[in-house]
Amino acid sequence: MTITAPARPAVPPRAPGALPLLGHWPRFGSRPHEFLATLPAHGSVVRIRIPGYDTYVVTDPDLVREALVSLSDQGMMIERAEALLGEGVTVLRGARHRRERRMIAPAFAKARIATYAEVMTRFGAERAESWHDGQFLAVDAQMHDLALRTVAGALFTGELGAETAERIHTLLPPVMTLLSRRVTRPAWIDRLPLPGNRRFARLVRELQAATGSIIAAYRADMVADANFEHDDLLGTLLTARDPDSGTGLSDKQVHDELINFLVGGTEAIGVTTAWTFHELGRNPSVEAALHAEVDRLGGRPATFADLPDLVFTKRVVLETLRRYSPWLTVRHVDRPYRLGDYEIPSNSMLFVCPVAIHRDAGNHAEPERFDPDRWTPQRAESLSKGAHIPFGMGARQCPGNVFALTQITLQVATIAARWRLRPIRGVPVGETVIGALVHPDRLPMRAEARRPSP
Ligand code: HEM
Repeated sequence: MTITAPARPAVPPRAPGALPLLGHWPRFGSRPHEFLATLPAHGSVVRIRIPGYDTYVVTDPDLVREALVSLSDQGMMIERAEALLGEGVTVLRGARHRRERRMIAPAFAKARIATYAEVMTRFGAERAESWHDGQFLAVDAQMHDLALRTVAGALFTGELGAETAERIHTLLPPVMTLLSRRVTRPAWIDRLPLPGNRRFARLVRELQAATGSIIAAYRADMVADANFEHDDLLGTLLTARDPDSGTGLSDKQVHDELINFLVGGTEAIGVTTAWTFHELGRNPSVEAALHAEVDRLGGRPATFADLPDLVFTKRVVLETLRRYSPWLTVRHVDRPYRLGDYEIPSNSMLFVCPVAIHRDAGNHAEPERFDPDRWTPQRAESLSKGAHIPFGMGARQCPGNVFALTQITLQVATIAARWRLRPIRGVPVGETVIGALVHPDRLPMRAEARRPSP
């Protein structure tokens, strides 16, 4: 019997084109997802030089899966967002993260999603109702606004919550803009008495005050009547219990989780819905197939009960998520870490670029083609698990994935039953990176009525 010694792990190859001081920053900084998409040609794990970080990019789907399942620490980038995200699941680590993930899980159970779906349908229908034939729409802004109103509406469905949802609708967009500037600059700048820092602190305080008063009102209802149940996301968080100790979440924890849901959910849902209409507008045969499906609803808004019949619409959404998913997932490596044939040194960052994985011809044939039928069960089954990761994987996999797919599918179906959104000739739509998402740089479209208003 011959015993072969395990091969010594190799050092990952370096990406070419690094400049003396700046490394790969000039290419990474301007269009990061396009730069990261060039890396599979150089290896399954590739080292890039970004000043301040020792960074390794995983390009192979099997290794992506391995890394996301075995590592869950996001390192310093997420710590910079703590001022807004507090101690929600996005920021927590280790045992506390696992405990709180279990506690928030009931908020995303199927029965709950069915309740939130009523809000999704109502807001989608109201939005479709608000347009007139021939209207020019900034579809990116429209869908962002719709997503924010819907997620805030699902957090607090009752009368009581309408005012809080409205406050959040006003406060969250400027907070997010200021936050995206903060996470990419040195931490000491946050502590200077600059107007932007003061404004950020004031807006975060106002957000806390808005959620604080509704949490207090819900708690008061529960004290007045122990059987009283608010049938929404906030109500579910307030009754959540740790399965081991039986303890619930504090007001601060509930507030932090609400903000985590709003931050995690709204931008991504808004961007995905907007890109879906962009792709429908430039793929007439896909659009015709989707219209044939939604027309079977007979002109009424799509509801939760319709989901099993919206199979093609859901495939269109999955294909949109393939083309335009988040562009960056980060993991911190705090001890020497073996990944495939490579060893990643301690204290480095691992980058996974979902959008580059999704646009790699080695993972998806003809990646430029918008082809919803990739998501038929037979074809989807043959994919490597790490080749489609819009919602991530492992311990940090998005808890809002079913919520998001439900909302986008119902609202796309409801809007498409009423309107055909036409691209504007001569106005190219490009991609721009904001935070972890690939946004359209603009998305003007014209609404063409498919059915006369009743
Ligand atoms: C199209 C919509 C969405 C996309 C593409 C998306 C994508 C993601 C991804 C990729 C992650 C994992 C990040 C990582 O591994 O580091 C994540 C985490 C998260 N998402 Fe989503 N998400 C979406 C919608 C939502 C919604 C609707 C909610 C809540 C209502 C939500 C709440 C969260 C939270 C709280 C986390 C942090 C989980 C943790 O760290 O344990 N997301 N999302």
